[in-house]
Amino acid sequence: MDSKEYQGAHLAFRSRWHKTDEELCRHSMSFVLHKAIRNDFFQSYLYLLEKLPLVKLYALTSEVINGEMQFYARAKNFYKEVPASEEGMMGDYAELSSTDTEASREFLRNFVGGPGKAGTDFALDCGSGIGRVSKYVLLPFFKQVELVDMMENFLTEAQNYLQGQKHKVNMYHCSSLQQFTPTPQKYDVIWIQWVSGNLTDKDLLGFFIRCQNGLKENGIIILKDNVARQGCVLDPLDSSVIRDLSILNSLIVKSGLTILRQEKQEGFPEQCVPIWMIAMQKNCGQTRNGML
Ligand SMILES: C[S@@+](CC[C@H](N)C(=O)[O-])C[C@H]1O[C@@H](n2cnc3c(N)ncnc32)[C@H](O)[C@@H]1O
Repeated sequence: MDSKEYQGAHLAFRSRWHKTDEELCRHSMSFVLHKAIRNDFFQSYLYLLEKLPLVKLYALTSEVINGEMQFYARAKNFYKEVPASEEGMMGDYAELSSTDTEASREFLRNFVGGPGKAGTDFALDCGSGIGRVSKYVLLPFFKQVELVDMMENFLTEAQNYLQGQKHKVNMYHCSSLQQFTPTPQKYDVIWIQWVSGNLTDKDLLGFFIRCQNGLKENGIIILKDNVARQGCVLDPLDSSVIRDLSILNSLIVKSGLTILRQEKQEGFPEQCVPIWMIAMQKNCGQTRNGML
């Protein structure tokens, strides 16, 4: 410790404290120590903010969502009113459904069905709704598809909507993603579209980790979602957050996944929030058993 600083504090307090010199020393010393520790702590906090966007992110998202339970309850209430149809799944942009699914198929094609690429046996559609992504993106590639969504009525409708291909739909899981664990080492592709913003950072991180364990060899996870231009923005309408790319990337990397490619969706109107597709794979030789 700097002796001048110690002396200064000592002198500053001498006039106020009518105690022995020894006691004075003790107090002034602890004052300087306290200050030094506080400064150090603050410096490390700032360092963490810079180095680890997650520190900033947790605080930011928690502030934005104003309570985890409310955040999830509001989303459920919102989806109770949403029609079980393509229009319901696409919000105001039903006419862009084919632009979306066409780009998704193109993106997916890069990663499946070849040496060293993902297989074409099993896909999992997360936050599937009525199965729009399954119908137009996954079923053309995979022998079997499973759907998972928190809304029972969407999954019931999926059985009509996917008629004709019903025999290829292996399972309809009615569950929220924050509580869902994909079967270990089963899936070639896990697709997560327009639902990641409905999970808190902690739950999305946990979900990425559980999804990793659900992948077969060479399996991949594809995340497709709205991406904020900067920071983390609350969409109060459906109780979701829109994260920027750096926040999403830090969650992905923190979960132990490697980003293979990220691509912006083209063909949506300029006024729309940008949409990105991100392909990820687990790091070679790594299984995160026992985590979350
Ligand atoms: C905008 S829709 C998108 C549906 C589908 N992914 C698509 O692109 O057509 C969002 C879906 O996520 C589901 N969802 C929202 N929050 C969820 C959660 N925490 N767990 C599971 N599903 C959720 C909703 O029920 C709804 O079906």
